[in-house]
Amino acid sequence: MKKIVAEAAVKEVQSGMVVGLGSGSTAALMIKSLAEEINAGKLKNIKGVPTSFQSEVLALELNIPIIDLASVSQIDLAIDGADEVDPKFQLIKGGGACHVREKLVASKANRFLIVVDETKLVEKLNLVFPLPVEVLPTAWKQVKNTISEMNGSSSLRMANKKAGPVVTDQGNLVLDVLFEDGIRNPQDLEMRINNIPGVLENGLFIDMTDKVLVGKIERNLPALFSPLKLS
Ligand code: 5RP
Repeated sequence: MKKIVAEAAVKEVQSGMVVGLGSGSTAALMIKSLAEEINAGKLKNIKGVPTSFQSEVLALELNIPIIDLASVSQIDLAIDGADEVDPKFQLIKGGGACHVREKLVASKANRFLIVVDETKLVEKLNLVFPLPVEVLPTAWKQVKNTISEMNGSSSLRMANKKAGPVVTDQGNLVLDVLFEDGIRNPQDLEMRINNIPGVLENGLFIDMTDKVLVGKIERNLPALFSPLKLS
């Protein structure tokens, strides 16, 4: 499912474009597919803007020319994955702890295209997937307490193959937050969380998404994709 949407997304890239390179497993498949098109000579003069150390390393390994976010005035198309997508195309991102740069790239992009499999579609955000909040290391406990006063229960994200917490590409920590009954007003919550001293950015992506491609498997048929309708 992920591969088929990743390949479909690359069909939206045209020669000469500056392309935001998302993070996570679906975005990684998109980057591989983009590299195949470039290396086959079907796409020319592409510049990729990485959203993370992961996408930067992958692009370099696959010979996709990259350019730093600070050096571009605009991005033609950014393609990224998501952890949850609601019917209004509001997103939770940051499952890979990359949401700070992902949001910077998305907000500089003329078009923001999301690639997901159908398991990511939800009626209401945050009933299942915790909202990632990147915090300065010294502030994590203070932010956790403030979020708890807002009825959110948060846990410090721990690393898998390292003792201690996940450290982001910016050298910060991540709180994963669940609100009782999910997120009722994502617009308001995005601003309220970002207003807490010590918070760098949260994973709510509000009114940024132009298009969502969804990979599906129906019965025993091969995977297919379809654009999602905004409701
Ligand atoms: C990373 C992200 C990813 O795009 C998101 O977690 C989806 O990842 P995957 O495609 O592996 O499910 O926001 O910070």
